[in-house]
Amino acid sequence: MIIVIANSKGGVGKSTLAVHLAPWLNEQNHRATLVDCDTQHSSSEWIREAAPNVKSICLDNPDDILDELPSLARETDFAFADGLGSQTEISRALLLKAHLAISYIRRSRGLRSRKSSRCSVRTS
Ligand SMILES: Nc1ncnc2c1ncn2[C@@H]1O[C@H](COP(=O)(O)OP(=O)(O)OP(=O)(O)O)[C@@H](O)[C@H]1O
Ligand SMILES: [Mg+2]
Repeated sequence: MIIVIANSKGGVGKSTLAVHLAPWLNEQNHRATLVDCDTQHSSSEWIREAAPNVKSICLDNPDDILDELPSLARETDFAFADGLGSQTEISRALLLKAHLAISYIRRSRGLRSRKSSRCSVRTS
């Protein structure tokens, strides 16, 4: 299953979520791979230090994502793709291949006084 953590805004916690969820799933006896699609490679460097037993790979251009992400996902239970904080060809390629996309959203002004979800989940 390909899970994409995507957002058009940077700094919302995409890498943090990916770097924590992948090791947790491994601890639950699932095979999880972190796929770092950010050209800065911060989440793959982070997970190599924090959880060296978790497989990680960098796919940081749209063609590699379209070509390699589906076959990579067949070799594991969960492929967690940590995306970019902007709308780019990389983001589009990831969303094309995602089975599940997790995106952070900001409440609109009218909803700020109510309790509402800040995280949306879409499945294909
Ligand atoms: N749940 C959280 N609570 C508090 N701080 C958080 C949380 N998640 C992430 N952060 C902090 O927010 C900052 C940005 O997190 P992170 O790098 O994961 O965001 P990102 O969406 O991957 O950013 P970028 O778009 O630059 O890749 C970091 O300093 C991180 O420690
Ligand atoms: Mg990040």
